[in-house]
Amino acid sequence: MAKLLVIGSGGREHALCWRLKQAPSVQKIFCAPGNGGIAQDVECITLPTHADIVSFCKENAIGLVVIGPEQPLVEGLADMLQAAGIPAFGPGAKAAQLEGSKGYMKNICAKYNIPTAAYGYFHNAADALAFLKDKSAPIVVKADGLAAGKGVIIAETIKEAEEAVRDMFAGAFGESGSSVVIEEFMEGPEVSYFALSDGQTAIEFGYAQDHKRVGDGDTGPNTGGMGAYSPPSVMTEALRAEVMKTIILPTVSAMQKEGAPFKGVLFAGLMLTKSGPRLLEYNVRFGDPETQSLMMRFNADLYQTLLACATGRLHEAKISFTKEAAVCVVMAANGYPGNYAKGSVIGGLEKAANIPHSKIFHAGTAAKDNVITATGGRVLGVTALGATIAEAQSRAYQVVDQIEWPEGFCRRDIAWREIKA
Ligand code: AMP
Ligand code: GLY
Repeated sequence: MAKLLVIGSGGREHALCWRLKQAPSVQKIFCAPGNGGIAQDVECITLPTHADIVSFCKENAIGLVVIGPEQPLVEGLADMLQAAGIPAFGPGAKAAQLEGSKGYMKNICAKYNIPTAAYGYFHNAADALAFLKDKSAPIVVKADGLAAGKGVIIAETIKEAEEAVRDMFAGAFGESGSSVVIEEFMEGPEVSYFALSDGQTAIEFGYAQDHKRVGDGDTGPNTGGMGAYSPPSVMTEALRAEVMKTIILPTVSAMQKEGAPFKGVLFAGLMLTKSGPRLLEYNVRFGDPETQSLMMRFNADLYQTLLACATGRLHEAKISFTKEAAVCVVMAANGYPGNYAKGSVIGGLEKAANIPHSKIFHAGTAAKDNVITATGGRVLGVTALGATIAEAQSRAYQVVDQIEWPEGFCRRDIAWREIKA
């Protein structure tokens, strides 16, 4: 029987904790720092530094650490745990550069012939501006480093692109914008594709579609993700095989050759262009809210699967997903992704939880004396299963409608593309 530690505090971590808890050989799960909803399923603890995490794992004989967000991965938490002999799910700092530096990721693609948008990578404004001289718009300007999903500017004119370049080098995204990637604009449906790797090999781990814009009909500013559904039908069997063959497996072998074998989940943001699937970006962690819908559909032993990844035995993993569809509707605080208030009380959660084939994952809540309050921008991920996407969607909104939270809102059209198709 194993004890586990999950790092993070979002809806993604709640979904992972919930599914891990159902694994037969899991004795106990801790989550640091967790949130009000996670605390209903596992024990939440505070471990402020990476050193605190390592000592806690040693003292409590933790058998696997699952690292949720990108920041601690880029900072080398997985390396520290491995060095202390503690199995960790998630790549080391060097392999995490696939997400931590867009320029690094693009250079790997160029070197190993992985299909992605044509690009230039610049370390000063003059070179970036010179590159733009003979280009045409739309064109995409990206801050090199982590920018919490905000560092991408789709410029409609070259003038706009030049402004974005100047802003980034002037510090609009801090250190993250001290280098810049400029790339070709691509068009097509977007898919979030997940693959597990143990450094040697890789297997598909589901795929989903996210809704990044805040408003119905995919309008308004970008957010961290307002909802997701799985599986999207645009992702045909032939496309899945092509993505594995032309993007995922070449990346796994590239990272081995670079001396930074990738262990963990490779989350490929794909664009399905007319000339085939192209890599938009890599994330080195699970997607949020995609993971909420994936975990609803996953029906094997998550602990053994992630442990197999962390210990180089992925060939032994037995994974399966139900054929049913899942839809996750994010409930966010009024004002998100701009300014929003914290501390409002969320009611009706117990009643809402009684609706079968659904689960309310918490993304930004606190619990005190049995009262749940909102503490973040994205607050809940209401997730449901159904025989079809339409059934899962209607069930998810049935749950949403039981929740009493006037200070929050959600999109009413999650999965609309699929239902329209
Ligand atoms: P990223 O953080 O790189 O995934 O970019 C955020 C969003 O910007 C993506 O989900 C796309 O919708 C859009 N985007 C990024 N790169 C491109 C590109 N080369 N062409 C068109 N849209 C893009
Ligand atoms: N939902 C997109 C992400 O997790 O980056």
